[in-house]
Amino acid sequence: MTAIVETNDLTKFYGQTRGVENLNLAIQPGQVFGFLGPNGAGKSTTFRLLMDFIRPTSGSARVFGLDAQEDSREIRSRTGFMPGDLALYPRMTGNQIVEFFSFMRKIDVRQEAKRLAERLDLDLGITVRNYSTGNRQKLGLVQAFMHRPELLMLDEPTGGLDPIIQQEFYAMVADAVSDGATVFLSSHVLPEVERIADQVAIIRDGGLVRVDEVGAFRREATRVLAFTFSQPVPEAEFSTLEGVSVVTTQGTKLIITSTGPIDAIVKAAARHEVVELEAHEGELEDVFLAFYEDEP
Ligand SMILES: Nc1ncnc2c1ncn2[C@@H]1O[C@H](COP(=O)(O)OP(=O)(O)OP(=O)(O)O)[C@@H](O)[C@H]1O
Ligand SMILES: [Mg+2]
Repeated sequence: MTAIVETNDLTKFYGQTRGVENLNLAIQPGQVFGFLGPNGAGKSTTFRLLMDFIRPTSGSARVFGLDAQEDSREIRSRTGFMPGDLALYPRMTGNQIVEFFSFMRKIDVRQEAKRLAERLDLDLGITVRNYSTGNRQKLGLVQAFMHRPELLMLDEPTGGLDPIIQQEFYAMVADAVSDGATVFLSSHVLPEVERIADQVAIIRDGGLVRVDEVGAFRREATRVLAFTFSQPVPEAEFSTLEGVSVVTTQGTKLIITSTGPIDAIVKAAARHEVVELEAHEGELEDVFLAFYEDEP
């Protein structure tokens, strides 16, 4: 299966400043691929390189198996892009922008744009200059989705959107994926990534530090298990298990904090009579957040 997006040692320096360095990404068809990382990590640079808005210092990128530079026209026609620094023509109305993109893309997208604008509760009759931040963002989404592209590349798509509209955006992503699209999006909203992404890449200082399924990150979240036994059990049976960090006893109740596999804990507990079990799943957000900190 050909990757929809693939980069090979993709490197971009802005003069002395590193944008990205030796980036190797592969995004498979149908994935919702989340791109996470601190400010200045290189996310927007990656999107701009994939869209051929800027050229790499070295390395290369392919989109739909096509060369990002040689075949950028075809790539752009099959991609919906929402830039992080969205700048739309301030004197035009939403409708005029839709017309303009229809003309540029040589397909009539007015019906679809109207449908999306209704979904996002956006009035297309207003001049861009007079839109609120959130409404400008909505127009960015309309222009990214309106030609029903095979690939959506969305650089911080939900910044400035109110919670109701965010939910609608998540539904739009799900609909696009069920229509066969692939979605590559960056975000600083960690619960959002948890909610919509299948795969997550973490970028720091211009390079990937980890790429994994959301489920794999989730399994690393610290969970707390509290067993109540029919009689007190020795802490030592649990404190040596993989991933277990803290074990405390309150009478017949044993409280375990763990980041490891749950199976060994359950099996250790099953050697005794369990009266009650409470389990608190840890926050995936904390797992992601650790990658933002100075010493990961
Ligand atoms: N046009 C530019 N000229 C010079 N340096 C740039 C330019 N664009 C980005 N950079 C630098 O490249 C690095 C990566 O920036 P980039 O915008 O790709 O980060 P980002 O991950 O999108 O960050 P954010 O989360 O803040 O949007 C930063 O050090 C940034 O200052
Ligand atoms: Mg950015």
